[in-house]
Parts: sequence; C-alpha cells; structure tokens
Amino acid sequence: MSEQRFFRYLQERIGLDVESVGVPMVERALRQRCVALNAADLDDYWVRLQQSPDEQLALIEAVIVPETWFFRYPESFTALVGLAQKRLPELAGERPLRLLSLPCSTGEEPYSLAMALLDAGMNPAAFRIDGIDISPSSVAKGIQGVYGRNSFRGAELGFRQRHFQEGEDGHTLDEQVRQPVNLEVGNVLDPALAARNGLYDFVFCRNLLIYFDVPTQQRVFEVLKRLTQPQGVLFIGPAEGSLLARLGMRPLGIAQSFAYVRQPADVPAVPVLPPLQRPTTVVSSRPRPPSVPPARPLRVVPPAAPAAEPRESESELLASIARQANAGDSAQARASCQRYLRQFAPKAQVYFWLGLLCDTEGDAQQALNLYRKALYLEPQHPEALLHLATLLAAQGDEAGARRLQERAARVGRESER
Ligand SMILES: C[S@@+](CC[C@H](N)C(=O)[O-])C[C@H]1O[C@@H](n2cnc3c(N)ncnc32)[C@H](O)[C@@H]1O
Repeated sequence: MSEQRFFRYLQERIGLDVESVGVPMVERALRQRCVALNAADLDDYWVRLQQSPDEQLALIEAVIVPETWFFRYPESFTALVGLAQKRLPELAGERPLRLLSLPCSTGEEPYSLAMALLDAGMNPAAFRIDGIDISPSSVAKGIQGVYGRNSFRGAELGFRQRHFQEGEDGHTLDEQVRQPVNLEVGNVLDPALAARNGLYDFVFCRNLLIYFDVPTQQRVFEVLKRLTQPQGVLFIGPAEGSLLARLGMRPLGIAQSFAYVRQPADVPAVPVLPPLQRPTTVVSSRPRPPSVPPARPLRVVPPAAPAAEPRESESELLASIARQANAGDSAQARASCQRYLRQFAPKAQVYFWLGLLCDTEGDAQQALNLYRKALYLEPQHPEALLHLATLLAAQGDEAGARRLQERAARVGRESER
C-alpha cells in the first residue's frame, strides 16, 4: 500500500507505531498535509516530504498526541519532593538538582515539577529542569506559558492560585516557576542525547512509550536509564515495571509514583526473558495496582490455618495488598492475595497482582496464567493486557502480543477521553 512508506518513515523518525494511534488517524493527517501543500497525490507528497524539513515537521505535528495536564499522577510529585529533599543535601551545594521531563509536550509536566519543589520550600536556584519534546509548536506553547482549562484537571487546583495570573487568554504562569525550567525541541531517539548520559537526578518519561512498538520501547528505556544518574530515579508510566526489572531497575515502592532506581550491583536482576518485549503506559481511571515490588527471592509462607485467618473488610484487604506489594514484601502480598481469593469473589485486580508478583520473580508461565485469569474476569484490564502482551511477545507470539497491545491502547485512549 502506498501509505506504508509514510508509516515506516514515522516509525523510523519518531518511533511512532501507527497502530497505536490508529491507521485512520494517520491517513487523515496525510490527507490534510496533501491538501495543505496542494499535492497531486501521495506519490507527489512523498517527494515533497523528502525534500522539505519543514514539511517533515508539519507531518510530525499532525500525528503526535500532545495531551497533558498539570500534576498528572499527583503521587509522583509528592514522591519526587521527598526524594529531592533527601538528595539535595548529598550534593552539598556543588551543583543544582537536575531533572528531565521527556516528553514535556506543552510544559505542564516540567512546570509541575518546579511548582512541587517550590511549594516544598526549595530555593529556585537549587534545581534545574529540562523539558524536551519533538513538537516545536508544543514547546513554543510551553515557553509562552499561558494555559487554558484543559491543563487544569482534578480537584486539587490550589497551585493555580499560587503560581498563575488569570487573564483573558487563560492563566499565565509566574516567572518564578518558569525561571528554573528550560524547554527545548528534541527527539528521544536522537543519538546526541547520549551527551547527557548520567546528567539527571530525576527523569520523567510518561505517556510516550504507548505510541511506540516494543523494540522501540526497549531502546528508549535503555536511553532513559543511561540519562539517569546511577543513584537517580526514573519515573515512568504505570505499566512498564517488569521491563525495567529486566533492565536492572527496581521500584522504589512508593505507591502510585511509578518511580524506579538502579538495582544495587550485588542484587541479581530479575531473570531475563528472551527476547525482551514490553508493554506501554496506559492511563486508566480506576484504582492503580501497586508498583512492582523489588525482585527478591520469595519466602515460603505456610498457609494460614483457616480458624486463625483474620477477617478484614474487602477494601482493607485490598489496601493491605497494595501496601505490602509497594513495600516490596512479595511473600506477604501474595499471602494476602490468596486470603482475598478465599474470602471474597474472584477479582481481576487480585489476579493481576499475583501475576505481577510472579512476573517480577521471573516465573513467566505462572504470570501468564494469572494475567489470563484477570482478563477472563475483566477483559479490558489495561495492565493485565499489557503485561500479558509482553509475555506473549517474549515467547515469540508477536501477533498475539500486538492484538493485546492494540486493545490496551484503545482502553487507554478511551479513558484519556
Ligand atoms: C501525551 S504527551 C505526554 C506529555 C507528558 N509527559 C505527560 O505525561 O503528560 C506525548 C508527547 O510525546 C511527544 N513525542 C512523541 N514522539 C516523541 C519523540 N520521538 N521524542 C520526543 N517527544 C516525542 C509528543 O510530541 C507529545 O507531546
């Protein structure tokens, strides 16, 4: 098909997996660009695209998804503040803290980082934040710093009063927040980024990988890991945990922050599954699972005697599972999941947690069965879809993996809407 070369071009240039946004969306963008250039047909447009860097950018702008807002995943900003307050004294004034938001889109994420640190009482000179995005128009909007209603979502909007001036065009961000933030155009696939290897104490990369195919996700994770200081922290989207475990990163165990650090050299990484395949970020409006607990050998927990089994309410037990898994206590988390399944009706989320625990420990076959059970109970469970896709891909079932990824991407897009 004559469109295939455009799809390939977008894949190679920005990593876009056309299926992730839907072929019709990209076809629409191609038609729009043909009309804008008065191109006779796709062949004519192809030639002009090759000849014009400006047109290449215009096509990229037409296919990217710039959706973002301030303090998206609020827990991660709270987690950052705690970690930054710990890290800053260790630097002993030798340099500011360095943070990266990639992709930064129109600036909401890097500016939220700045507001979080300023609100925690940090001196603006104590940190520097770089924001990078492939879209020049998004970066230009970010530099302008004027935001409309869509950038402010959720109930907690106190920061708007503290850091913005309301005007006719929207809310203008205060200079104090802009000052430590540098926004620039850049591509996560650009080899020149290697010049910044090890530069950043904190790297945020959320809602980019969902648009990439599995090999590109893997490549980008390697880039992100290298950009992050050895003792730094990488913040990702909610569903990418077990890939990072296989790259020698482990979750910090802060609930819903999706924060990862490098595995200490003496702790063996989770066994590597051949070949490495990974799910993507999906936004979901329902409660999140805990981040993947650190890889540790499982302690064997003797089954509790039925008479001694504590009776908690369903919500208490679910909260305990999340707490235990986030604290890295795999054995307790697993025992609590099993207790849940004895006491209450089967629940997809509990099977998903059990699968995640097996996955993190390298028991792929058991994880596969458990993710399948989760999907039997809840066919649209996004994390189960993505993690199962990863395992299928690792076993060579590329077609099955792709189908699940597409399903997960659809769920993600629906919940974004
Ligand atoms: C959905 S936004 C995510 C923004 C923010 N991180 C968040 O989570 O709210 C995705 C952004 O990725 C950018 N993007 C897509 N491909 C990219 C690439 N290869 N390098 C850098 N940015 C890219 C797009 O321009 C878009 O602004």
